[in-house]
Amino acid sequence: MKVAIGNDHAGVELKQELLEHLHQMGVDAVNLGVDTHESVDYPDVAAQVGRAVVRGEVELGFLVCGTGIGVCMAANKVRGVRAAPCCYEYHARMARQHNHANVCCIGSRVTGPELAKAIVTDFINTPVDEDERHCRRRDKIMALESAE
Ligand code: RB5
Repeated sequence: MKVAIGNDHAGVELKQELLEHLHQMGVDAVNLGVDTHESVDYPDVAAQVGRAVVRGEVELGFLVCGTGIGVCMAANKVRGVRAAPCCYEYHARMARQHNHANVCCIGSRVTGPELAKAIVTDFINTPVDEDERHCRRRDKIMALESAE
C-alpha cells in the first residue's frame, strides 16, 4: 500500500514517528509535509495530500497539525476528499467502515505518539463497509460538493 503523509510545523516530530511506524508496517509513505519548525500554512499541506489521494497517486492520506482540525477542514475542501479527525482508534475504524474516509487527521498537541500510531494502524487495516446504507450516505456526502 502507498500512502501520503503531510504536516505543518506543529506536526514535525509526530510525522517523523508516524513515518517510521508506517515503514515498520511495510507501508510505502510519501512525505509531503515539512521537516523544520519554520511556520507554514496548513491548508497548503492539506491540499497536497488531498490531491495526491483524489488523483490516485496514493490510496490514503494522513495529516498532522496541532489539533488535527485545520488540516481536516482544508483537506475536505478538495473535491473527492473525505477527511476525518481521529482522536481514538475507534474514530479511525468508524471513519473507514461507515464514512469511507480517505484521509485521517491527527493533532500532535492532543494525541500522543503511541495512540497516534494505533490510529494510523487501524485506519490502514480497516476496510470500508460496502453495505448499501453506508454507500448511500457516502454518496450523499459527496453530492454536497456540487449541490450549492
Ligand atoms: C499552528 O499553530 C496551528 O494553528 C495548526 O497546527 C493547527 O492546529 C490548526 O488547526
